[in-house]
Amino acid sequence: MAVGAEERKALFLPRLASLEKVEALSDREKMFRIRFNDGSALGHQPGQFVEVSVFGVGEAPVSVSSSPTRGPAFELGVRNVGNVTSALHRMKPGDTLGIRGPFGNGFPVADLVGRDLLFVAGGIGLCPLRSMILYAADRRQDFGRLVILYGCREPAERLFEGELAGWRDRPDIEILETVDRCPLDVAWEGSVGVITTLFPQIDIDAARTTALVVGPPIMYRFVVTECLRKGLSPKDILLSLERHMKCGMGLCGHCQINNVYVCRDGPVFSHAELTRLKEAH
Ligand SMILES: Cc1cc2nc3c(=O)[nH]c(=O)nc-3n(C[C@H](O)[C@H](O)[C@H](O)COP(=O)(O)OP(=O)(O)OC[C@H]3O[C@@H](n4cnc5c(N)ncnc54)[C@H](O)[C@@H]3O)c2cc1C
Ligand code: FES
Repeated sequence: MAVGAEERKALFLPRLASLEKVEALSDREKMFRIRFNDGSALGHQPGQFVEVSVFGVGEAPVSVSSSPTRGPAFELGVRNVGNVTSALHRMKPGDTLGIRGPFGNGFPVADLVGRDLLFVAGGIGLCPLRSMILYAADRRQDFGRLVILYGCREPAERLFEGELAGWRDRPDIEILETVDRCPLDVAWEGSVGVITTLFPQIDIDAARTTALVVGPPIMYRFVVTECLRKGLSPKDILLSLERHMKCGMGLCGHCQINNVYVCRDGPVFSHAELTRLKEAH
């Protein structure tokens, strides 16, 4: 696809943006609401990512966590793990940062219309999935059932607590949660066990369902097994991959798996596609 001069500039040059709101999601994650200084929208699809520049420190790829249905400001949920992310965590509303992108394919939104969606989020994987969950919730009539399975290590690590409660209250969204473990002094009404223990609790119509799975790599194999056991076709199990990335647009080769650039051809791949990529296993 031919890319225009302005679009090309947005891919190579960080656009100046301001932090509008910073909110702690847990001890390790914060949510950053960002707005471009020129007032333009990011123009992303759910499942796409941006390269975030903290000037003088560096750049990091981060999935967009908000839905394009919600106006020009956009949100990133970021775990503090290293140089760029810790510098970002020190920033305050009003501070300036740079954004390149959006990059990647995102979820195939048009193909998902009319389908039942089974969201499977492990830990911080809820950040990228939230973009598609909010999109489907905002265009509720376009989709069938919305079923969310969310698992994290402990109740204190749950992200978007207020939104989880809001989704639970909606009669048109089904949500089941689990934690790997729960300290004795913490009140917890969800399940205890790894995320795959939620699968026996749900009934799905496999022919109508697409699973959207984002979480730590260790989770994927077990979740895919459960999805296949439920009768889902490999083409209807979508997984978002994380690889070390630099350019974000298929030029540097940092994210390459066989003949595929995860940044450009992904990060979302179906299980059917991944079984053809030997190094992805
Ligand atoms: C497509 C994509 C989407 C992402 N979305 C999010 C998101 O929504 N929220 C979020 O918090 N993080 C996300 N990440 C991960 C994020 O990019 C890394 O945590 C970040 O680049 C770390 O940068 P740093 O400078 O803070 O850490 P560094 O100082 O570079 O490194 C800290 C540690 O993290 C490791 N590391 C760095 N980058 C990666 C990576 N890409 N994969 C695995 N390990 C890495 C390093 O090896 C090192 O051990 C995403 C990554 C990709 C590729
Ligand atoms: S990050 Fe450069 S090719 Fe993917």
